[in-house]
Amino acid sequence: MCGIVGYTGPRQASRILVEGLKRLEYRGYDSAGIAVRRDEPLGDGEAPLSVIKRIGKIAELRQAVPKDLPGTCGIGHTRWATHGGVTDANAHPHVDGSGRIAIVHNGIIENSAALKEMLEKEGARFASETDSEVIAHLVAYYYDGDLEAALKAALGHLRGTYGIAAIHADEPGRIVGARNGSPLVVGVGDGEMLLASDVTALLAHTASVVYLNDGEVVSMTPAEFRISDGDDRAVDPKIDTITWKLDAIEKEGFSSYMEKEIFEQPESIDRALSGRMNQEYGSAKLGGLNLSKKELHAIERVRVIAAGTSWHAGLVGCQLLESVARLPAQAELASELRYRNPVVEPNSLYLAVSQSGETADTLYAMREIQRRGGSVLGVCNVVGSTIARESDGGVYVHSGPEIAVASTKAFTSQLAAFYLMTLSLARLHDMSHHEGQRFLAELRAIPEAVRASLAQRDAIQAIAKRYARYRDFLFLGRGILYPIALEGALKLKEISYIHAEGYASGEIKHGPIALVSPETPSVFLVSNDHLREKTISNIREIKARGGPVIALAQEGDDEVAGLADEFIPVPTVGSRFQPFVMVPPLQLLSYFCALELGRNVDQPRNLAKSVTVE
Ligand code: M6R
Repeated sequence: MCGIVGYTGPRQASRILVEGLKRLEYRGYDSAGIAVRRDEPLGDGEAPLSVIKRIGKIAELRQAVPKDLPGTCGIGHTRWATHGGVTDANAHPHVDGSGRIAIVHNGIIENSAALKEMLEKEGARFASETDSEVIAHLVAYYYDGDLEAALKAALGHLRGTYGIAAIHADEPGRIVGARNGSPLVVGVGDGEMLLASDVTALLAHTASVVYLNDGEVVSMTPAEFRISDGDDRAVDPKIDTITWKLDAIEKEGFSSYMEKEIFEQPESIDRALSGRMNQEYGSAKLGGLNLSKKELHAIERVRVIAAGTSWHAGLVGCQLLESVARLPAQAELASELRYRNPVVEPNSLYLAVSQSGETADTLYAMREIQRRGGSVLGVCNVVGSTIARESDGGVYVHSGPEIAVASTKAFTSQLAAFYLMTLSLARLHDMSHHEGQRFLAELRAIPEAVRASLAQRDAIQAIAKRYARYRDFLFLGRGILYPIALEGALKLKEISYIHAEGYASGEIKHGPIALVSPETPSVFLVSNDHLREKTISNIREIKARGGPVIALAQEGDDEVAGLADEFIPVPTVGSRFQPFVMVPPLQLLSYFCALELGRNVDQPRNLAKSVTVE
């Protein structure tokens, strides 16, 4: 949600900033801008900072930035609006009254109204409706020849969350950054330094990074950087190496990131499983959990905290943990948990599940649990993310960078992590060695089964062509396929803007069936277990009311194929593994419906990847 990039070094800053913003566009894409310090002597009336801002995508900004814009130090921002509409004036960077200080900001300044009032009394004139602009004026208010000192003084007045980068016309080559609740990463280059909210903006330039912690401030020049903490003590930086490669964030011949990420799933699931399956013991090992066998044995219940698609993965995981590992398990919406005064029971295993590892709702819920003495393990994709670093251990799902706003491959990798966790806990309880080996054999076959499910691509595209203009959809499933119905509905609404509701199919007769008509298609997920017959009865109920039915069921299920208007066969896998083969066709259905309607599948309206505000 919003992206920051900064560069200082020998090269032309504007190019690097615009390219960095392009990489960060998935974090917010309603407007963008850069501020570059001019190096050469200024002509009469020339501003010391070149500030260029545009509403719309980075392409608009790129067009507006002169190719030869001078300057080797600057900052940039791509915005997802919170305070103030989408206008050039509200886009970042924001400058102070003198035009010598520029700042970019991610997060929310909660006391901006009071600060603005105070600053206006001091003579500041505001040019935007944003909360962020107060930072520029506040830094100016304190500036006395030292940007770092001025920013630190300003921070003392800010309430809320921030990732900030600032430059001053009088301090050549210097960028100062600060973090509180909104990520910032230093990129350590050779004779140059970068600052970004996300490592994807750094990958083209360096693999050496330093993640800032909350309360830290960084001051950098091309040759060096130093970090200090909230008490102004120097921090010894820990330099990490990013393992993601640049081509992992390219489209590699696909027409969109979402399409690429959907089709990467056989490999990404394989990565999530790899090295973690122990055939000999019929068990799994997730090293990062940092729990001894004794501690694992002591777990009496599992609680998942997550949002959106990650919550859906948690719902699947909890069903598995309960039915296979026989542990009571519940997945909670992080945004709800934090504010309902939760009881943190001893011997509970809390799992914070998050692709980005930066989702504010999940992060704050995790901190709330930790504050009450609970320990929380992270299940994250982004290495070095805040949840990954602040949790008490955890697992990475290794799906690789997920750029499309709609989460696809991270979801199936999260599922893979839950299956492994279930197996390892089940083997400590009732599951026999032989059953464990069978479970593993089924899990090992999943990447190929997913590949086979993706082979339905063309058939699904044809279905999407026929159905994309319906305005309402129902997604229905039972048991472990109920969360997959929720996920199918979320995917469709988020990228195609078609209204979709996910329901447990047994629930429709308790209300939602009133929506059924020839204009409302129902997408049924038919399991291959004891719930199959019940689901078929639900299909008949819909058909009896004239509702069109798109059914996903195991290949060769002629009864379902005969009943449904559209049939999408999925590969044969054990019933508890069906989420893996049901979800890719649903992702494709949403994807093709969205394309049919001319939507931007990677950057759907109003959304941003990684929701770092509550
Ligand atoms: O990064 P996280 O997994 O914590 O994100 C949680 C949700 O914001 C995310 O899954 C969102 O629902 C996706 N856009 C769904 O495709």
